[in-house]
Amino acid sequence: MNKIKAAVIGATGAVGQVFMWRLANHPWFEVEYITASAARVNHLYGSTVHWLLPFEMPSSIRGRVIDEFSIETMKERGVKIVFSALPANVAAEAEPLLRDNGFFVFSNASAMRYYDDVPILIPETNIETLSLIEQQGYPEKGFVVTNANCVTAGLAMSIAPFKKYGIKEIAVCSYQSVSGAGYPGLSSFDITDNCIPFIKGEEEKIEKEIKKILSIDPLVDVYCVRVPVMFGHLEAVWLTLEEELSLEQVKDEWDNFKEASHLPSTPINPVLYSAVDAFPQQKHAFWGEPQGMVVYTGRLKKRANKIGFVLLVNNLVKGAAGGSIQNAEAFVEKYKLLEN
Ligand SMILES: NC(=O)c1ccc[n+]([C@@H]2O[C@H](COP(=O)([O-])OP(=O)(O)OC[C@H]3O[C@@H](n4cnc5c(N)ncnc54)[C@H](OP(=O)(O)O)[C@@H]3O)[C@@H](O)[C@H]2O)c1
Repeated sequence: MNKIKAAVIGATGAVGQVFMWRLANHPWFEVEYITASAARVNHLYGSTVHWLLPFEMPSSIRGRVIDEFSIETMKERGVKIVFSALPANVAAEAEPLLRDNGFFVFSNASAMRYYDDVPILIPETNIETLSLIEQQGYPEKGFVVTNANCVTAGLAMSIAPFKKYGIKEIAVCSYQSVSGAGYPGLSSFDITDNCIPFIKGEEEKIEKEIKKILSIDPLVDVYCVRVPVMFGHLEAVWLTLEEELSLEQVKDEWDNFKEASHLPSTPINPVLYSAVDAFPQQKHAFWGEPQGMVVYTGRLKKRANKIGFVLLVNNLVKGAAGGSIQNAEAFVEKYKLLEN
């Protein structure tokens, strides 16, 4: 099978590294082109990157050369899909340009998330919104598909099965790891032995995005807290439904929550509940198959029509690059790109 050629832009950042790791042996995509900031052009990836992931860098990516950002060269080298891990302000210029030049852009940046014709896609929860790319002009033109903010990704996955019971209110408090702020992120003076109960713009994003992704309009109350751990975001959630469910019904809904098409990046059980005490924890962030793609739930409680639970999402994998790759897989499958 001929793999589809892809570019990773922002390949040296926290999210970019996950793209490089997850794409190193991908069955459908091969990385043809990688970029970072201008100072790294022509440097070898393995020598210039500050590798953050808790396992070794794949040997096949060490010797890759960082390319200069050039639309023309990307076209000449046959790139079709662009995975974007750029900061929002840089993405705001680069992503429309890439789209206008016919590329299929899968982005982690918030720059274009709130455009009416740009989906915030999570294949398990709102696959129908992928067809918005046709409003952007596909197949004649390129498009941008975004994925959710990392906290929203975990929240949407864990509450999507309950949409049919009527979601009236969502109250959530997040405990977010430092990798969520990118590299180098926060000063060690600020975050060592400390929690910071404010992450600029984050609470607003979660409220806006959960409503767009699930097409619901509940009351949403959010507190976001930065905590001194490296990977994974925990969230303590209270969900108020129109109907009262038993704890068994809640567990069954998570057990039966599947994504229909079995994409390479979709776990068999995308939301896994465990009744084990004190689970989940951030030290489990890279558990699961594919690693980091499972959303874990635990600490289940109920009070009348409210259900309470704790979830863990890997902010860099399911909440970022892994989710983006899964979105590209959903696109390739729906529009049968591998068969053309
Ligand atoms: N971290 C998360 O958990 C997470 C989750 C979901 C979404 N996101 C979003 O994903 C994007 C990437 O986040 P991150 O955490 O990976 O950030 P990061 O660690 O700061 O990485 C940013 C990347 O963009 C490159 N870059 C920066 N300025 C550039 C410029 N002017 N021109 C070209 N390249 C430039 C950097 O290259 P250098 O290394 O050379 O500076 C690096 O490769 C952001 O939009 C973020 O909001 C992040």
